[in-house]
Amino acid sequence: MENKIKQSGNRQNELVHILHEVQERFGYIPPERLAEIAKKLNISESEIYGVLTFYKAFSLEPGGEHTVTVCMGTACHVRGGQQITDEMERKLDIKVGQTSADGKFTLETVNCLGCCAIGPVVTVDGKYYSHATMKNIASILKEY
Ligand code: FES
Repeated sequence: MENKIKQSGNRQNELVHILHEVQERFGYIPPERLAEIAKKLNISESEIYGVLTFYKAFSLEPGGEHTVTVCMGTACHVRGGQQITDEMERKLDIKVGQTSADGKFTLETVNCLGCCAIGPVVTVDGKYYSHATMKNIASILKEY
């Protein structure tokens, strides 16, 4: 029994490792790669989907040219993080987790970027925008 649990844990670790490699190479997990990964690890594709949906870091769709991340951690949330997210969704005409129709922006949220004092915080491709407001969202997006 202990051996089976250990094997299952090792397989899961190997799966996460492979998924990270694939995502790094392609920028997302191409769905056509799932059968190949399942065969290699001798697991079902539904097991892989389970892992993909558990870890927010993996995506089955190619991301946009730029990734916009709005911090929704407590400190940013109380300073208007939700309104910033809502406005980003309106401006880009997408929901969190989606990519704009022109392929330019993917919108994501995160639970803390580690710089709570300058919130609400937005990042675009890792560049930080502090004290984000409804008014400066358009100018942030315009830079891209
Ligand atoms: S809560 Fe937003 S940076 Fe910490």
